[in-house]
Amino acid sequence: MSSPIPVRFEATDLDRIATAEGRVAVIVTPDGKLDPAGRRANRLTRGAVQRLLDSDRFAKAKNGQVFTLAWPAGMAAEALDVLVLEQNPSPIEARKAGAALGKLKDGKPALIMAGSRRRVAELAQGLALRAYRFDAHKTGSDDEENGGTVSEVVIAHNRHEEVAAAYAPLQAAVEGVHATRDLVNEPANVLTTEEFARRLKELESLGVEVEILDEAELEKLGMRALLAVGQGAESPSRVVVMQWKGGAKDAAPLALVGKGVVFDTGGISLKPAGGMEDMTMDMGGAGVVAGTMRALARRKARANVVGLVGLVENMPDGRAQRPGDVVRSMKGDTIEVINTDAEGRLVLCDVMWYAQDRFKPAAMIDLATLTGAIIISLGHENAGVFSNDDAICNAFLKAAQAEDEGAWRMPLAKAYDELLKSRIADMKNVGGRPAGSITAAQFLQRFVKEGTPWIHLDIAGVASVKSDTTYAPKGATGWGVRALDRLVRDRFEVE
Ligand code: BES
Ligand code: MN
Ligand code: ZN
Repeated sequence: MSSPIPVRFEATDLDRIATAEGRVAVIVTPDGKLDPAGRRANRLTRGAVQRLLDSDRFAKAKNGQVFTLAWPAGMAAEALDVLVLEQNPSPIEARKAGAALGKLKDGKPALIMAGSRRRVAELAQGLALRAYRFDAHKTGSDDEENGGTVSEVVIAHNRHEEVAAAYAPLQAAVEGVHATRDLVNEPANVLTTEEFARRLKELESLGVEVEILDEAELEKLGMRALLAVGQGAESPSRVVVMQWKGGAKDAAPLALVGKGVVFDTGGISLKPAGGMEDMTMDMGGAGVVAGTMRALARRKARANVVGLVGLVENMPDGRAQRPGDVVRSMKGDTIEVINTDAEGRLVLCDVMWYAQDRFKPAAMIDLATLTGAIIISLGHENAGVFSNDDAICNAFLKAAQAEDEGAWRMPLAKAYDELLKSRIADMKNVGGRPAGSITAAQFLQRFVKEGTPWIHLDIAGVASVKSDTTYAPKGATGWGVRALDRLVRDRFEVE
């Protein structure tokens, strides 16, 4: 696993501005006020900082913008970054500003002079979130793209111990996000179902109880829908159960369920070749569940949370399931498989049923790169949120908003459910082209027990993206880890 960039908090020492190597950052307010570090940098550079503040470009500067003075005179550093940030930023503004610095992070060390600023823990979190690289398969050691993030960041602050303490739980979330990104970015020849399970087993070192169910056990449980998806693959199907018991002994857990299709060819209903390589991210839901469990364990969340992932590969093969096959789910309902490419719901329905059957959860949230249709609806800005319970749904939406993770509620209704009627079985696995994301959610709802508050998150559009976002370089985003971590803090932790 690639570990997040190390951030160290130290007492302010203005003399380091002259001697620090790599990058040095000072922070100015949008109206051009300098703190002692800014004044020192200005003096060292013989007024270069003040000239920037007096310029037309600075007059148009926005909160969170960075101006870089390269090879500044009077300093050992290669760059002086002048970050524009409001005196009293919101947590999101601070995180965005940090991300702007994180984007500039190269292999060199960095010193950020934060003076007595507020929200510096959030700034550090934004920086660490953005300073991510997936270079597991890059062999070059020092090319531009591969600059590495190993060298540390020092943030100098007048109350550095206080800021360090505030950063600890935020760093746990960063670790979770980066763990998710690593999994989602990994190609399918490396991240097989078994390798995925092996990596989840590593969570045991953090105090998470991890069980790996193999095909014989899944067969015994009756998970025929899930097994049917994986039956054409060489990689064996697995369900992994991760339990974090940080809450009261008898408190029902929150259950997180993730779709973990390590590669989705579509099966016999084969996808077109163009873009099929993107389907390495079809385990994104399972990746978010794994990253969230890591974040919770790293900050020792005082809550009971169980994460379950269905790990399968959807391949065309002589043994693969066919369109028209009828399978029996663990619940007992039968499903006519019209399209083998609508496989995620077949995996989830069994894992969701098992989660409720075994854990009687207080609430259940499933995450899946489930439908292309959600990308048509919401693009890459928002995940689709479906729920049978306004209270938990609103709590999630609020948490997502606080973390700046796009989430938009979509409808569920009986009328959509009619589209899933099958002539020969209890239901079909597809409802046709109209409302594709909603019929997928309706399918899943059939496997939600009466009285279980449930949220379905369709993350097909947000799990991995083709251009840089505020908090991540292009590729896997880790969307959802921070929102879920916050939801647990807001709703499930004991005092
Ligand atoms: N994994 C795909 C959904 C997907 C599409 C994720 C694009 C990420 C980006 C899912 O298994 C799938 O193939 N869904 C089908 C459903 C259809 C056959 C009803 C789809 O969206 O086309
Ligand atoms: Mn599919
Ligand atoms: Zn899929």
